[in-house]
Formats: sequence, structure tokens, C-alpha cells
Amino acid sequence: MYLLRELTLLGVILSIQVFATWIEPSVLDACPGYQVSNVNADGSTLTGDLTLAGEGCNVFGTDIANLTLTVTYETDTRIHVKITDPSSKRYEVPESVFARPNASSTASPSSAQIQFNYTASPFTFTIFRTSTSEVLFSTVNHPIIFESQYLRVKTSLPRDANIYGLGEHTNPFRLPMNTTLTLWSRDAFEVPVGTNLYGNHPVYFEHRTTGTHAVFLLNSNGMDIKLNNTESGDQDTLEYNVIGGVLDFYFLAGSEEDPLETARQYAEVVGLPAEVPYWSFGLHQCRFGYTSFVDVADVITNYSAADIPLETMWTDIDYMQGRRIFTVDPNYFPLARVREIVDYLHQHDQKYVLMTDPAVAYTPDEDYGPYQRGTDMDVWIKLPNGSFSLGLVWPGVTVFPDWFHPDIQEYWDNEFQLFYNPDNGIDIDGAWIDMNEPSNFCFQPCTDIFDQAVQQALPPPRTAPVPDPNTPIFVNSSAVTKRAEPGDNLLNPPYEINNAADGRVLSAKTAWTNSTHANGLVEYDTHNLYGTMMSVATHLAMLARRPGLRTLVITRSTFAGAGSHVGKWLGDNFSSWGMYRQSIAGMLGFASLYQVPMVGSDICGYAENTTESLCARWAMLGGFYPFMRNHNSDTSISQEFYRWPVVAEAARNVLDIRYRLMDYLYTAFHTNAVDGTPILQPLFFKWPKDSNTYPIDLQFLYGPSILVSPVTEENSTSVTIYLPNDTFYDFLTLEKIDGKGEDVTLDNVTLSEIPVHIIGGSVVAARTEGAMTTKELREKDFEILIAPGMDGTAKGALYVDDGVSIDSEVNGRTMLEMNYADGRLTVNGTFGFDLGVGLKRVRVLGVQPDAVPTNVSITGQDGTALGNGTFTLTFDQEKAVVDVDVGVPFTSGFEVVWS
Ligand SMILES: *[C@@H]1O[C@H](CO)[C@@H](O)[C@H](O)[C@H]1NC(C)=O
Ligand SMILES: *[C@@H]1O[C@H](CO)[C@@H](O)[C@H](O)[C@H]1NC(C)=O
Ligand SMILES: *[C@@H]1O[C@H](CO)[C@@H](O)[C@H](O)[C@H]1NC(C)=O
Ligand SMILES: *[C@@H]1O[C@H](CO)[C@@H](O)[C@H](O)[C@H]1NC(C)=O
Ligand SMILES: *[C@@H]1O[C@H](CO)[C@@H](O)[C@H](O)[C@H]1NC(C)=O
Ligand SMILES: *[C@@H]1O[C@H](CO)[C@@H](O)[C@H](O)[C@H]1NC(C)=O
Ligand SMILES: *[C@@H]1O[C@H](CO)[C@@H](O)[C@H](O)[C@H]1NC(C)=O
Ligand SMILES: *[C@@H]1O[C@H](CO)[C@@H](O)[C@H](O)[C@H]1NC(C)=O
Repeated sequence: MYLLRELTLLGVILSIQVFATWIEPSVLDACPGYQVSNVNADGSTLTGDLTLAGEGCNVFGTDIANLTLTVTYETDTRIHVKITDPSSKRYEVPESVFARPNASSTASPSSAQIQFNYTASPFTFTIFRTSTSEVLFSTVNHPIIFESQYLRVKTSLPRDANIYGLGEHTNPFRLPMNTTLTLWSRDAFEVPVGTNLYGNHPVYFEHRTTGTHAVFLLNSNGMDIKLNNTESGDQDTLEYNVIGGVLDFYFLAGSEEDPLETARQYAEVVGLPAEVPYWSFGLHQCRFGYTSFVDVADVITNYSAADIPLETMWTDIDYMQGRRIFTVDPNYFPLARVREIVDYLHQHDQKYVLMTDPAVAYTPDEDYGPYQRGTDMDVWIKLPNGSFSLGLVWPGVTVFPDWFHPDIQEYWDNEFQLFYNPDNGIDIDGAWIDMNEPSNFCFQPCTDIFDQAVQQALPPPRTAPVPDPNTPIFVNSSAVTKRAEPGDNLLNPPYEINNAADGRVLSAKTAWTNSTHANGLVEYDTHNLYGTMMSVATHLAMLARRPGLRTLVITRSTFAGAGSHVGKWLGDNFSSWGMYRQSIAGMLGFASLYQVPMVGSDICGYAENTTESLCARWAMLGGFYPFMRNHNSDTSISQEFYRWPVVAEAARNVLDIRYRLMDYLYTAFHTNAVDGTPILQPLFFKWPKDSNTYPIDLQFLYGPSILVSPVTEENSTSVTIYLPNDTFYDFLTLEKIDGKGEDVTLDNVTLSEIPVHIIGGSVVAARTEGAMTTKELREKDFEILIAPGMDGTAKGALYVDDGVSIDSEVNGRTMLEMNYADGRLTVNGTFGFDLGVGLKRVRVLGVQPDAVPTNVSITGQDGTALGNGTFTLTFDQEKAVVDVDVGVPFTSGFEVVWS
């Protein structure tokens, strides 16, 4: 969240901005670059010395005369190219924050799918595909520039290149080729297009009809990445302009056939996502502006009364006293009443999540434990003179925890243990971490932060009436829940990145970039890691509270690799149709590219006021976000789904679909956590040779088998969607649609409907009905839906475990493969986790009247007939569906044969 009242000031300040450092590209292209000598190629490694190839051009400092090149074939699909300055220990992303990927001992140029090639003088390099010699990355004609505070590498790209990634931003999913992407964590209220946002993922995927590869630059310094399609010659370009660190590239071969391989290879580099609890796929409700415990309890009651399954209730900073973390306001959120809410939720198989910000109120003269204990442990970020690096955040003047301090985990664990103690504190089930760019409200030049705290009235006074502390809650809910280098300028480096924070300088609205960490690193280099480091610390603190159990931590700021610890919400969007549409591209960036699968944006919009129709449509689109949360700001109108009948209806409808498919989603998440296969996919991942799919970002794949195509325009009840040359089945009517590689217009889509299709070739195990909680859902039977593809076959998988244990072996795992061909379905695998429910029915979709079977037999794994051996087979001609009522316990593999 962001301080709304700054907006007017912001407008004034933005209008007087002078914009960034500008150097003609031709000047940079005329720099001398380097030449390489002493090249030594030995097995999987090539090294060489780079020396400046002429008079330095010294554009933003002095060109470094001598550099070292190291090229390593780390696996058959990955080449690591690193250029460093041997004369100094330049900053590199610390191993403690980003563990380097393992290399295979057998990798070599002769077996690799991509190759490194170079010219010696000037030194240029290319990466090309071994099988086809197709060049994927090339610095030819673009000399490398390496200065203390400016690094530049530029590659040529094909015309109209299909580039995805380089987040976080609000661009279309396929990046416009005339854009600058700036990576510098920023509290970016209303997430403006074309500006740097909260997180940093310096990776891009490039897709061609000939294959998909990826390029990752492991560097946490501020940078501008410029995409340009107006250069001479038949080429676009991509240019990195980085203000520190080293050049540390990972080139991933990806695949000529399957873009999912590229995603899996990136997961090998940044790490696999952490598994989340099953319950975290339920519906979450939040807002900024629940003024007291009474509001929170009312929302819980109202969801139940509206028959909308609410899994998890959240509370924003409203609960805090003076907006200080690890406190409750004794008048508005008395501890005993909050504990009563948590108990109530837990008794009804529901969950609770609270917000924790990083900034700790600077209170040297007060008895505020979190500040005192942190000061005693000396864990705050400091300025070069040893004083605390102060910020201005919700509670007023603050300090910032130093995530590099050797004792920081002990400090953070202890605060979590104290405040979130199940016995006498607030027993949260998940954590929400915000403001971790880190955000700072102090306006540049920020010379008197104490004065600004007064001017900005922080913390803001409470204006809502104080509730009677004895107000009864949950009274109407009887039925309730059924369900740095020396000499560098750390404040104003010569190359000014395109930071959109007002004040523009690097320290604008964040911690001073000359602040130092306990290990000597400076914020100038590590700023972009702050949110991810808080994520790791919070994840660990939550695990320490409930050892052995998974948790849910949702963060705002991330760096590459964050998904191994946390999920992410897309920040402070606003209630508009544009933001509704953009949420798909934003979500695809995190889920299908950056390996942060637990992602979603604030449903119905965070800032400004939503409308009934927007909220209805968004409830349904949000039903297909991995992380489904309704959240808004304190100055907006209420937008819980039960506020409008049509929105409540929309929410019930989509939650019914979502809950029926929850095990399918859980399986997709698990697969993601095991091998990096993304939980969501853009259409071109599935149909990579169909160039019509490349720009599509208003439709997406939810798991491997479901195509979601929401209505995208206000007041419209129709949507024109693209259906590739493939088979599709409407999820609700089961009607078969043959895609023809053309647009199809769907009409009469009411406000409580959303087009959802099963993609031909899929077998989906679904629950027979939804439920009010995920616990109740897990007591529902399964049914198996067979949606044959163009070749008549189909396959799918089902993974179920206890949903909470980190080590899922504890209570066993059920892992099934389901294959269908030639009128025969086989379900094989292990039933290590006791599902405790039955298999109600098996349905085959798209059966032609002349191919309706008359007999069915079902045999168990041991070859004997299942159940009593007789099964009812019915054909619904209108739906073209053949059903078999199975009705046996779902405890072993089996085979169904239709004849
Ligand atoms: C760069 O390397 C060359 C040759 O190895 C050496 O003569 C020169 O002194 C080095 N320059 C700097 C600035 O270190
Ligand atoms: C490698 O680069 C050299 C120098 O440009 C070039 O002659 C050669 O053909 C390249 N090799 C491949 C396989 O592209
Ligand atoms: C990029 O090109 C698009 C399409 O031509 C145009 O609408 C947009 O304004 C351009 N953006 C910039 C930053 O020039
Ligand atoms: C794109 O390249 C052209 C030609 O070199 C140049 O004039 C233009 O300034 C470049 N645009 C950007 C954003 O760098
Ligand atoms: C760090 O930045 C702060 C804020 O501008 C300034 O007061 C301080 O002198 C700087 N310290 C150094 C060593 O640059
Ligand atoms: C939202 O609605 C409230 C209540 O009607 C109103 O006070 C507020 O100004 C509206 N906000 C915006 C941004 O329109
Ligand atoms: C949608 O309908 C409302 C009410 O008639 C109208 O105010 C609004 O302008 C319409 N929006 C669009 C995009 O046509
Ligand atoms: C559609 O796909 C099928 C199966 O791959 C193929 O035989 C057919 O030629 C394709 N049709 C078009 C129009 O591309």
C-alpha cells in the first residue's frame, strides 16, 4: 500500500522532472570495446583476458583496462558467461542470497545444445543453437563497455522479436520493442505502465517459430534494459545499461519444440518454487480499512451468510497500534478479541493472515520491544558514519532491518515467536509482507525526516469510532461455515537509470543507497534484494513457529529466485478494466517465466472504487489466479463479493469451478515445485508453432489442460477468443468445439459466467462438487473427465498429499497417471495417501452418436473386476457425453474399457 495523500504532491513533482542521462546510441557503439587474448579452452571452460581495444570512451566513468572472461558449459542446455575485473573485488550478488546452480560434470561444447563463439578483436560473442547454427544472442557491432558504474552489453535480435520477461512491469506480456525496462525496486502506487515496479527479474524468454531460449543476467544493481526496433538494418536490439556489479549471464538453450523446457531450465538456475499448503488455494479476503475487530468478524459472518466459501481472512496494518509492527491497537483490535477471531476461524477450518512490514518505528525514548531488542542486537541498516539509516514509513520515522546481519534471523524469528505466539499472541497461518522495496515516504532531498513525519502526519490518527470492547461478534453465524567500489558515487551515479520514484535519484522513496549492511555491502548494490531477503527471513520465521508444516508468505518485492520461498501479489493496482486485463500479463510473468507460481492481483482492484460489473468479472477471472484474494484500500468503497447479488453469484459460480478443480491445480503446483513446469502458461507455450498465439495475453492456460478466456471489455457480454487448431470442450456445457486457428466470438456471456475450456488431449480428475472450506472439499468424491484430443487420446495426472507437511512422505502421497486411448482408460500409480473418498464417475466427452459404446468393464490392478462388476453406462446425446457411474472407493489403480 501507499500513502494516497501524496498523490497531489506527486503530480507537481513529476511535472518538473528532468529526464534521464541521454547518450546517442551511436556514441556508445563507437566505443573501442575489448580484445581477447590468452584464450584457453579446456573441456567445458574457456577463459581469456580482455583488454581495452583503444582509447577508452569513458562515457560514465573510466573504462576498465583489463577484464577476465570465463565461459562455462554448465549443462548441455546452459552456458555461463562471466566478465569481471580481476584487479578489484567488485560486488556480485552474494551466494547467501542467490545460490549458484549446480553444474553437470559431463557438460561440454561437443554435447551442448547451444555454443559460445567469439571474435578476438574486437571481442564480440555470439550464442548459437548447435543443431541449426541459428544465432540467439550476438554482440557483433556493439562493443562491450565496462566502467565502475556503467556496464553495457547489447545484442541484436530478429525484427519483431517476441521477447517476454524483464519484470516487474505493467507492459503487455509480449514486450513492445520500443520500451525501456528499468529494474530498481519501487513502491509504485497504481503500477504505472512503463515504470519500474516492486521487483526485479532480469531474465527474458525469446520465442521464435524455431524455438524458445532464455537469457538471465544475474545482477542486482539498478539497470535500464532498452528494446529498440528503430535501428538501421533488419534487426531489433536489446541493450543492458547497468550501474554496477559484474556481467554474469546465463544462456539457456530452451528447446526447439517445447517452451516449457525453457521454463524448466530457468528453474534449474533460480530454484524450484516452495510448495504451499492446500488451503492457500482457497478464497482470501482482505482490505485496508477494516477499522476494528468488529469489521473483521462481520466480514467473516457475511461471507458465510452469502454462502460464498471464505478460506482465509486477512487484516492489513489497521490492527497495529500507531502502525507499529508486532503490536495491536488496544482500542480497535484488543488482543483478546483478535484471538477470539482466530479461534473462531480455526474452529471453522478457516485461516488468518496478518501483514508485517519491515520498517520498525524508531523509538529510542519509548518502551517498544521490537525496536529495543533490535537496537540491542544492532541489526539495523546504517549510514556510512555508523548512525541508523532512517526512513519514514507508516509509524513515522523508522529503522530498517539489515537482512545481511548475522543475527537478523534470530531477531526476526524471536519477534514472530513473541507476537504470533499461539498461546498468548496471534496464531496466524500465513504471513503477508509489504513495503519491502523498502518503501520510504520521505521526499527528496529528505533533509529533515522528523519534520516530514510531522508534515505527513505519520502515523495517521484514527478517526473511526472506538468500538465497545465487549461488542459480541459472530452472533448471526449459527449455521456458519459449512464450508560497492571506493570512489563510486553511491547516491548519484553518472548514468541515471530511469527510476520513476519521485525525486528520481536512486534513494528516492527508499533507503539511502549509501547505507551499509553488517557485512559491508551497500544498498546501492543490494537494494533490489531487500524484499527477497525479507521473504526468506519471514518464511523461515513462519516455519520456526510450526516446524515441519508449509506456510504461505505473500510479498510485494521480489528478486529472481523469490518463488523458492514466497508467493507474490501484484501490488497496488486500481479498479479499472485496464488493470483487470493487465493482471493476466502480470501474473503470467511471475507464474510462467519467473518461477513465482503463487501469484495474483488484488481482485476488483486495490485503489479507487470498483463497480458492480468490474467486480463480477474480476471475481471470475480471479478464480483462475493461483493466489485468489479480494483486497482494496481504505479510501475505496467496500467490495467484498457479497456486496452485490450479481457479484456474489459470480463468486459462487467461479468458486464452484475452482474448488472442483483444486486438486488439478494442486497437482500442477506440485509439478511446478518438482520440475519447474509452470502452473500457468501463455498460449504459445502450448501451441509454439502458431504465431497467432505469440502476442495473446487476455487468455491463458490454468494448469496444463484448462483454457481461460474472460470477457475483457466493460459492458460487453461477448468475447472474441482465439482457438488454435485443436479440440476444446466447454467446461460447463461439455460441448465440443473444433478450433480452427481462428478467432471465435462467444456471445451472451452473463456477468456471472466465464468461458473456460478443457483442452483436447486431457484427463482431469475433479471433485464432484465444491465446498465451503478446503477441508470439506477434501471429503468430496472424485470424477474423471476424459477430453480426447484430435488423435483420440488423452492424458493427465493427479497428485494428492496431506496438504500441509513439508515432507509429504510423512502421510504419504498419491500420484496417479491417467491415460486414455482406443476406448481404454488406465489409471496407474501409487495410493500412498489415503484419499478417503470415492470415485463417483468417469465421463468421456465428445462421443459421436455412431461411436457410442454399449459395454464397459472396469478391472482393478490385480486383474479382478472392480466393485460388483456391473456399471451403468449412459449416453447424453445432446452433450455427446458417455458417463459410467463407478461408485467405488478411490484406493487403487484400474482400467476402464469401453466397447
Ligand atoms: C592491463 O594489462 C596489461 C597487460 O597485461 C598491463 O600492461 C597493464 O598495466 C594493465 N593495465 C591496468 C590498468 O591494470
Ligand atoms: C565462429 O566465429 C567465427 C569468427 O566470426 C566464424 O568464422 C565461424 O564461422 C563461427 N562459427 C560458427 C559455427 O558459427
Ligand atoms: C511504442 O510503439 C507503440 C506502437 O507503435 C506506440 O503506441 C507507443 O507509444 C510506443 N512507445 C514508446 C515509448 O515510444
Ligand atoms: C533506437 O535506435 C535509434 C537508432 O540508433 C536511435 O536513434 C534511438 O534513439 C534508439 N532508441 C532508444 C530508446 O535508445
Ligand atoms: C550518505 O547519504 C546521506 C544522505 O544524503 C548523507 O547525509 C551522508 O553524508 C552520506 N554519506 C556518505 C559517506 O556519502
Ligand atoms: C469512492 O467512493 C467514495 C464513496 O462514494 C467516495 O467518497 C470517493 O471519493 C470515491 N473515490 C474515488 C477515487 O472516486
Ligand atoms: C458502460 O455502461 C455504463 C452505464 O451505461 C456507462 O456509464 C459506461 O460509459 C459504459 N462503458 C463503456 C466502456 O462503454
Ligand atoms: C490441424 O492439425 C492437424 C493435426 O495436427 C493437421 O492435420 C491439420 O493439417 C491442421 N490444420 C491446419 C489448418 O493447420
